[in-house]
Amino acid sequence: MAQTPATSASPVSFTRQADVLVVTIDNPPVNALGVDVRRGLAAAIAAAEADGEAKAVLIVGAGRNFIAGADIREFGQTPQPPSLPEVCAAIENCSKPVVAAIQGAALGGGLEIALSAHYRLAVPSAKLGLPEVALGLLPGSGGTQRAPRLIGAKAALELILSGRHAGAKEALALGLVDRLGEGSEALPEGLAYARELVAAKAPVRRTRDAQALADAEASRAALEAARADTAKKSRGLFSPMKIIEAVEAALTKPFDEGMALERKLFLQCIDSPQRAGLIHAFFAEREVLKAPETKAAKPRTLESAGIIGGGTMGAGIAVAMLDAGMPVTMIERDDVQLARGRANVEKVYDGLVKKGRMTPEAKDSVMARFSGSTSYDALAKADIVVEAVFEDMAVKKAVFAELDRVCKPGAVLATNTSYLDIDEIAASISRPGDVVGLHFFSPANIMKLLEIVVPAKVSADVVATGFELAKKLKKVPVRAGVCDGFIGNRILAVYRQAADHMMEDGASPYEIDAAVRNFGYPMGPFQVSDLAGGDIGWATRKRKAATRDPKARYVQVADRICERGWFGQKTQRGYYLYPEGARTGQPDPEVLAIIDAERQRAGITPRSFSEDEIMRRYMAAMINEGANVVHQRIALRPLDVDVTFLYGYGFPRFRGGPMKYADMVGLPKVLADIQEFAKQDPVFWKPSPLLVELVERGADFASLNQSE
Ligand code: COA
Ligand code: NAD
Repeated sequence: MAQTPATSASPVSFTRQADVLVVTIDNPPVNALGVDVRRGLAAAIAAAEADGEAKAVLIVGAGRNFIAGADIREFGQTPQPPSLPEVCAAIENCSKPVVAAIQGAALGGGLEIALSAHYRLAVPSAKLGLPEVALGLLPGSGGTQRAPRLIGAKAALELILSGRHAGAKEALALGLVDRLGEGSEALPEGLAYARELVAAKAPVRRTRDAQALADAEASRAALEAARADTAKKSRGLFSPMKIIEAVEAALTKPFDEGMALERKLFLQCIDSPQRAGLIHAFFAEREVLKAPETKAAKPRTLESAGIIGGGTMGAGIAVAMLDAGMPVTMIERDDVQLARGRANVEKVYDGLVKKGRMTPEAKDSVMARFSGSTSYDALAKADIVVEAVFEDMAVKKAVFAELDRVCKPGAVLATNTSYLDIDEIAASISRPGDVVGLHFFSPANIMKLLEIVVPAKVSADVVATGFELAKKLKKVPVRAGVCDGFIGNRILAVYRQAADHMMEDGASPYEIDAAVRNFGYPMGPFQVSDLAGGDIGWATRKRKAATRDPKARYVQVADRICERGWFGQKTQRGYYLYPEGARTGQPDPEVLAIIDAERQRAGITPRSFSEDEIMRRYMAAMINEGANVVHQRIALRPLDVDVTFLYGYGFPRFRGGPMKYADMVGLPKVLADIQEFAKQDPVFWKPSPLLVELVERGADFASLNQSE
């Protein structure tokens, strides 16, 4: 029988195969539930009711997925009928058994459709979940009411609060699906299941009537445990507590009342700025992949890697590459350093073995792919080499001269430098087209951000290879131009100065850290400095002292602290005290005395700062330098700055990133703040030309976010 589209151009079509009406959703790329899909599904259920020959309905997705959820682009826009809860109700109320056969993603609204069906089957590729929490939402189409009734409060809360995906087997064990299909395709498996149900005269079976909440005491205990855990873990987040409230309604209220409460709470989440921030982050982290070079060129081969230097970064990068299955050759200066480099790598795996997260055999098999040498000739066959030696131009150039000598033609030659001029490094060898910056963050095997720094002469396919490497290593790549500090560290240097100015003007480092934490960061800037080691910044400041603008304000507190050998956690004191290796620091009266002395030396009478003022200054500095970075094309778009800060600097995801945050605050307000601060310090506070231009045009950063 011919496919009948629900309407002329509908992404939902239906066809009867014997006595089963097969409904297919075909809405690439992921079958999201946009308005046309919702209309099509409603029409298909109406057709099933009207078709006397149809004894059951089968819902499947075309392509790799069942349904990836609501169309995220529609959130925040005027809703178009029918709503998803209405479509789910139509499916659940259908008088004929409805089967959902799931392959690939059944996420969010997609799982809610499946929960509204009467029977569910999953093939091995299926992944089921209610990930709305990651977008600042809650499942708003019955997920909070049907999931607990079907699988119990504990399992439902865990699934909804974590937002994680469950595979087919786990879904069966949880009771989310009734059956596993053996083949890989949902359509034939689902059809066989539907026919079996028809033959057995299986009844319509509504999830709203399911009984998994029957044990009231266990359900209540699960709720209380989730409440306590969420209060601790989801500090500052809006939707998790709403999720618990909605699930509680599933325990205490009739279904229809629970649905009404779920809708009310869902709309509150939709209106929250956190939803806007989190959805911006979702699209931004996909948008960063679309750099011009990834469209223009194909990546080179990436099978084997070399690393120069086995210190903090070299060892971390080696682990990241080993974890991705690549063979890695490490080069060090001498045998002693090589042994240390190898030990740095092994230490990571020994830690995992000790925690029971890796078997000793698995460690051995990973380490079998690792080799070390003090001779560059060992890199002759490497497809990519990443240099992570000392931050010193002469040392880097010497390393690149060796790479130029030994590496095969076409090998990608990357530097992990934090600040140095990569154009200069590239110009020093005979193949500048092969040289790229790959700026990993510490610890490199954990941190997700990878800045791909694009020097003037690099070939597009080398840049594309950087993006391919990021994918292989499960990192988030951001394209950056060459400048002092690229995107992230360049902006960091500026807002760190703003923090230092506030410290000298009267705010204690502890007040500043607390304000930054209350904004949503896991740590404040002075805690970060103590964690990373104050000596690194001290060395950089000394190196740059000669070229510093003599008119620029320079706060010396950090130097006074470093001069005492207080480098942070590793020396048990920095801005904070860490007695007996404690990880959480305690305020140090001696540091406060040093700051006081520095204020006196600089002739400053300290004043108090409210938390609001601290954050206005901190963010204004970050946003202004972010605007400069975009203006100078160091970052392609504001969203590239956002992703850099979300993945490299702990910026709270629910605020979307500094540039999204600026849009939400309003650019005129940010500019007015900068102009006000400039009255005291016009050298530091210079409004970015881009910020000024956007305010004049009445535009925002989002208007610059279109892909290149
Ligand atoms: N609504 C609108 N667009 C969506 C979408 C959704 N629910 N889910 C994915 N997309 C888009 C992506 O933005 C991307 O678009 P692009 O190619 O223009 O960048 C495209 O679909 C492919 O997504 P991608 O994530 O790159 O594909 P993948 O195969 O790696 O992963 C999923 C597929 C479904 C697992 C993943 O996209 C996902 O988790 N989606 C969100 C699911 C969700 O949160 N649903 C609940 C909504 S309330
Ligand atoms: P590190 O001092 O821990 O390690 C450097 C290693 O390079 C040492 O083991 C040293 O023996 C080795 N080395 C030095 N010269 C060599 C040579 N000629 N040949 C072979 N090996 C040599 O330094 P690190 O913190 O790992 O930093 C390395 C690079 O990564 C620097 O460019 C730094 O700016 C950059 N970086 C550091 C961080 C960080 O947080 N530490 C973050 C991003 C980037």
